[in-house]
Amino acid sequence: MRTGYDGVAVVFGVDFHVGQGEIVAIVGSNGAGKSTILRAVSGLITPMAGSIEFMGRSITGMRAHEVTALGIAHVPEGRRVFSKMSVEDNLLLGAHVVSDKGKIADTLRRVYDTFPILYSRRSQKAETLSGGEQQMLAVGRGLMSDPKLIMVDEISLGLMPIMVDKVLQVLKQVRDSGVTVLMVEQKIEKALAMADRAYVLQTGRIAMSGTGRELAEDPEIRKAYLGL
Ligand SMILES: Nc1ncnc2c1ncn2[C@@H]1O[C@H](COP(=O)(O)OP(=O)(O)OP(=O)(O)O)[C@@H](O)[C@H]1O
Ligand SMILES: [Mg+2]
Repeated sequence: MRTGYDGVAVVFGVDFHVGQGEIVAIVGSNGAGKSTILRAVSGLITPMAGSIEFMGRSITGMRAHEVTALGIAHVPEGRRVFSKMSVEDNLLLGAHVVSDKGKIADTLRRVYDTFPILYSRRSQKAETLSGGEQQMLAVGRGLMSDPKLIMVDEISLGLMPIMVDKVLQVLKQVRDSGVTVLMVEQKIEKALAMADRAYVLQTGRIAMSGTGRELAEDPEIRKAYLGL
């Protein structure tokens, strides 16, 4: 797939796949094009060339709400929670593509099972949550559309180092709850440690791919990204 903005490509010929039940990471430095790839998959921008398939059907050029309805949730970069709204109201916003009230209640229960902290904070304003809890809320809101695949953009952004591991663990909980995870990270070492497979993106191209462990042990990656 090739994509970009205003007719200018910033992602060139990127080819990747995510298997059901996997945690796959796209890692790379600032401006490599990670967020752009997620935006293209979720229908916020359209590919200039190539195609995107989801569960055997083409979603190339579909609109964002159609993609969400098919089962892909996108948790964008930066904690976009509505600070003056309660935790629960923030979660319910994520269910706007679901019309069945009973199903919304079921999904809410499942999200609370996955993140008990959100249950205990459900009536509080979102702004009273810590940074890490707000990231959980953002992921929880994504889960409210009952997706098969959730794409999470830099969940660790702006968090204290000790919170980073915690929020990354959240993605494992999400996968264990039956939702496939595609994550994007600048914190390459951490991402490789937890992903089943990863793709290294360099200025809009995939430079390398493999299991998280293979990449973490690769001398070039260690030199270029891990400062080892
Ligand atoms: N809305 C936009 N309009 C024009 N160019 C953009 C837009 N958003 C991003 N770009 C450009 O596209 C390139 C890739 O940006 P992208 O946000 O995808 O990178 P990234 O890998 O997510 O970086 P970061 O780790 O800093 O979030 C950059 O050169 C950026 O300046
Ligand atoms: Mg980004």
